[in-house]
Amino acid sequence: MTRRTVRIAMNGVTGRMGHRQHLVRSILALREQGGLDLGNGETLWPEPVLVGRREHALRALAERHGLTEWSTDLDAVLADDSVDIYFDAQVTSARVEAITKAIAAGKHVYTEKPTAADLAGALELARLAGEKGIKHGVVQDKLFLPGLLKLKRLIDGGFFGEILSVRGEFGYWVFEGDWQDAQRPSWNYRAEDGGGIVVDMFPHWEYVLHELFGRVTSVSAHVATHVPRRWDEQGKPYEATADDAAYGIFQLEGGAIAQINSSWTVRVHRDELVEFQVDGTHGSAVAGLRGCRVQHRSATPKPVWNPDIPATESFRDQWQEVPDNAEFDNGFKAQWELFLRHVALDEPYHWDLLAGARGVQLAELGLRSAAEGRRLEVPEVTL
Ligand SMILES: NC(=O)c1ccc[n+]([C@@H]2O[C@H](COP(=O)([O-])OP(=O)(O)OC[C@H]3O[C@@H](n4cnc5c(N)ncnc54)[C@H](O)[C@@H]3O)[C@@H](O)[C@H]2O)c1
Repeated sequence: MTRRTVRIAMNGVTGRMGHRQHLVRSILALREQGGLDLGNGETLWPEPVLVGRREHALRALAERHGLTEWSTDLDAVLADDSVDIYFDAQVTSARVEAITKAIAAGKHVYTEKPTAADLAGALELARLAGEKGIKHGVVQDKLFLPGLLKLKRLIDGGFFGEILSVRGEFGYWVFEGDWQDAQRPSWNYRAEDGGGIVVDMFPHWEYVLHELFGRVTSVSAHVATHVPRRWDEQGKPYEATADDAAYGIFQLEGGAIAQINSSWTVRVHRDELVEFQVDGTHGSAVAGLRGCRVQHRSATPKPVWNPDIPATESFRDQWQEVPDNAEFDNGFKAQWELFLRHVALDEPYHWDLLAGARGVQLAELGLRSAAEGRRLEVPEVTL
């Protein structure tokens, strides 16, 4: 085995996603397994260069993980010819500027979603990347979750017959931050800082719906800020200016209807933090992050509506668990591996900045639909 190093500037790795999912669960996990086996006698060895604004936080992070390279000077890191890839998990509002610089410096780019605050910005990044001829990718981690991979397997196997509808329920209670600390950063609740559940979650729903069921052709959304006052990381009260719940209906190419509730203001009475129920003519499924249960038409009960007597059947017990039949890796790591293979071996990769722009478009149109109180068509995104 020969070892080939790929140097990755990782910006925003002191944050929630950058640290846990991208640095620890993806890049460091790859190093723990000896690097990425490229299958051609070569191993790709990712070498992270931590980038950020706060020197003490970066140094502490590097020391904690036995890493030696970190910098608060993004321009200098981008000017370093030995750096191959720029990765961005900063707050969303800082993303466009940094990625624009990285593209200009000729780095390959891998980034968290949403790629920009609006469609115009997202398309501009995709255009610049195309012009420069760099390789680019956008995180679409939900596609790599075991539950959704099982759902995809069911679709590919023809389990559903014609798919009629998809109902998604995403959410949990995010504490206000006064008597218990909030478990999400406060910028998520301020529109002026790039926050809001539509901007956060609609990009995910766009690629999940598109890749599994069909492109979204129209959106109708209602949004709310149910909790108007929260407390930040310093314990200071602030006004929540962004939406913390979104109720969306999406028409899909092929005719299915999707309805997805997204909320940081609901309490969970579900098996997982997100669940999608898919109903088809031949069967139905409920998929979560990890699990997936099915009910075939042949095993579908025939309940009769009668509120005068207690329920006679245990409906939840009438479903069957879909077996794993495979080993599932962390979804973020699985997508990183494909991106690294794209960079190293030129393998195809379609979760790129143009795909990312579709997610930004759906968020933009979702918010506009809510503001205008009407359903909006979703035109196909092209460069
Ligand atoms: N793929 C997913 O499932 C998923 C989930 C949550 C968040 N995200 C995305 O990941 C990104 C980071 O979210 P997070 O929850 O980790 O946020 P976070 O607040 O925990 O981390 C943000 C990072 O950006 C840095 N930062 C903060 N303010 C900055 C500024 N003004 N300029 C430059 N850098 C700044 C912070 O130091 C930190 O490293 C967001 O774009 C978010 O949309 C993706």
